[in-house]
Amino acid sequence: MTLVVLLSGPNLNLLGTREPAVYGTATLEDHVATLRSVLDPAGVDLEHVQSNHEGVVVEAVHRARGRADAIVINPGAFTHYSWALHDALAAFEGPIVELHLSNPQRREAWRHTSVVAPVATAMICGLGGAGYRLAGSAVLELLGSRS
Ligand code: DQA
Repeated sequence: MTLVVLLSGPNLNLLGTREPAVYGTATLEDHVATLRSVLDPAGVDLEHVQSNHEGVVVEAVHRARGRADAIVINPGAFTHYSWALHDALAAFEGPIVELHLSNPQRREAWRHTSVVAPVATAMICGLGGAGYRLAGSAVLELLGSRS
């Protein structure tokens, strides 16, 4: 069975009530369900890990190695400074889709750098919750719709 691991970084557990003007009103569970609704019909399994702790996200990447076929990751603020996450993702063999609800390039200057981008296969940003649906399609495309 093909397995996709979705990783959600810090503060994404607050989605729904966190800065709704920026991130919308859908919860993280809603976004996970959206991604699952694209992967399910293709027979692709989804595992989700959210953490506010860098080491937990790094270790989730380690656990994905040799087991998962692709990673979809919204690293939250880790995007902008976690070289530990960069290094962990660099050691993952499969495709990696970096996902952001907002478009960090249109926001504060400190959000313009992504240390994840150099190890990501593709990036989806600025499309709100639709990004989770598109990330599902991107993963199926990258895996050749293998299931
Ligand atoms: C985010 C963008 C990041 O800059 C921010 O720190 C987040 C969410 C997004 O989904 O738009 O926590 O990754």
